[in-house]
Amino acid sequence: MKTIIEPFRIKVVEPIRMTTQDERRELISKAGYNPFRLRAEHVLIDLLTDSGTGAMSTHQWAGVMEGDESYAGAKSFFRFDAAVRGIFGHTHVIPTHQGRASERLLCRAVVKAGDVIPGNTHFDTTRANIEDARGEALDIPVPEARDPEDLSPFKGNIDLDRLHHVLATVGRERVPFVLITVTNNSGGGQPVSMANLRATRELCDHYEVPLVLDAARFAENAYFIKLREEGYADKTPREIAREMFSYSDGALMSMKKDAFGNIGGVVSINSDAWAEKVRTLLILTEGFVTYGGLAGRDLEALAIGIDEILDEDYLKYRIASTAYVGAHLHACGVPLLRPFGGHAIYLNGRRFCEHLTDEQLPGWSLSAALYEHTGVRACEIGNVMFGRPDPADGKWRWPALDLVRLAIPRRVYTQSHMDYVIEGIDELHRKRKRIPGLRFTHRPAVLPHFTATFEPITR
Ligand SMILES: Cc1ncc(COP(=O)(O)O)c(C=O)c1O
Repeated sequence: MKTIIEPFRIKVVEPIRMTTQDERRELISKAGYNPFRLRAEHVLIDLLTDSGTGAMSTHQWAGVMEGDESYAGAKSFFRFDAAVRGIFGHTHVIPTHQGRASERLLCRAVVKAGDVIPGNTHFDTTRANIEDARGEALDIPVPEARDPEDLSPFKGNIDLDRLHHVLATVGRERVPFVLITVTNNSGGGQPVSMANLRATRELCDHYEVPLVLDAARFAENAYFIKLREEGYADKTPREIAREMFSYSDGALMSMKKDAFGNIGGVVSINSDAWAEKVRTLLILTEGFVTYGGLAGRDLEALAIGIDEILDEDYLKYRIASTAYVGAHLHACGVPLLRPFGGHAIYLNGRRFCEHLTDEQLPGWSLSAALYEHTGVRACEIGNVMFGRPDPADGKWRWPALDLVRLAIPRRVYTQSHMDYVIEGIDELHRKRKRIPGLRFTHRPAVLPHFTATFEPITR
C-alpha cells in the first residue's frame, strides 16, 4: 500500500470554531497584525508552532496518573532520568521547564562576555540567551542552506571549513562550546547528517572544545538520516539517535517537540563542573534538581513520550505527512523552501510577496494575510524575527531567508485539515499582489516577534 495513514485513532476531540473573513479582518487588526497576539479560540488551524501543541498518547495520560509529586527524589524523576539517559547517554540529566530554561542555565553557567558560540543556525531563544550572557551567537550553516531551491539532503549541516577557521582563530579559551541544532529549525527544519556530526566532533576534539546538541527534534533528524544517508537504512531510529548523541558532550532539549510534551526540557551533560553550576542556578530559579520546574506528572509523560517518538511507524507518517503539504503546495506553484523539513513547511515570503520590499516585511505580511484569508495561524521566521538595525550605521540588516513557517503539531490535525490549508494558501497565492505590506508601530528590543505591533502600509 502506498497510502500512509495516521498511526493512531482519535479518542478525545476538541472542537474548533469557524470564523468569517470579516471577523478575522477585525481580529487581526485588533491584534496589531501580530498572530501571536490573537486569542487561540479565534484560530481555526493553528500552525504557529509544533512546540507543546502535540497530542499525548493513552500511555502518556496513564503516566500522568502515576506522577510522583514528591519534592525530592520522586519516582517520576528516576523514570525521566533513565529514559533520557537511555537515548542521550550523558552523565548528568537535569530537568527544566522548557528549552529556553535549559539554554539560559547553560549560558549563565559557561558563557563569558566576548565568547563565541558557533552553530549551524541558532534558534531565536538560543541566540537571545547567548547574547544575554554577552556572548556572540555565530551562525555558520553550509552555503546551500541559504538557497531555498537547493535540493541537497542535509541543508542543516554546519560549514566545516568556517567552523575550522573560527576554532583556529578565536581559540578554545573563547569558544565554550559548539552548538548544533537537530533539525535546524531556523534554517527550515533541515536535517544534519551523521557525517557532519562526526566531522564536527573531530574538529572539536582537535581544538578541545565541547560539542553540544540542541536536540529539540532529534528523532525527526534521526529518521532523515535513515532515509537519506548511506549506511543507515537498516538501523532503527533509536540506534541512529544514540549514534548522533555519542558524538556530543551534552545536549539541550525543549521536550515540547520530540518528547510529545506539553511542557518540559532538559540539560544533559557529561561535565561534572558544568553540571554543578547548572544545578546551582536551577535551584535558584527553576526548582529542586529532581523536578526542575516541572510537576512529577510532566516528568512521567516526557519519559514515555521520548521513547514513543522513536517509533518507526510514527516517524514515517510524520515525515510523509509534512511532505504531503509541501508537495501539494509546490504543485500549485507556491514558493517554498525545499527539501521539505520534518516538522514544518516554510513558505518563501520574499518570493510569495514579490511586490513587497524587505522594509515592508513580506513574510510577516503574508502570515497576517493568511490568517485573514483562511483562519490558519503561521509564524514568520524572517525579517521581523531576525532583522535588526546595524548599530554602526542604523541601516536595517535582513536575514538571508524571510520565511513563513507552517509548523505541524504532532498527532493533532488530520489530512483534511491539511487539505484545507493547501487550498487556502493556493487561493491566497493567486491573489498575492493584493497582500498589503506592514510596518512596525512598536518593536521591542529583544525577541520582537512575540509582542511587536504593526499597521498596514497601503490600506
Ligand atoms: C531548535 C529549538 N531550540 C530551542 C527552542 C526553545 O524551546 P522552548 O520553546 O521550549 O523554550 C525551540 C522552540 O521552538 C527550538 O525550536
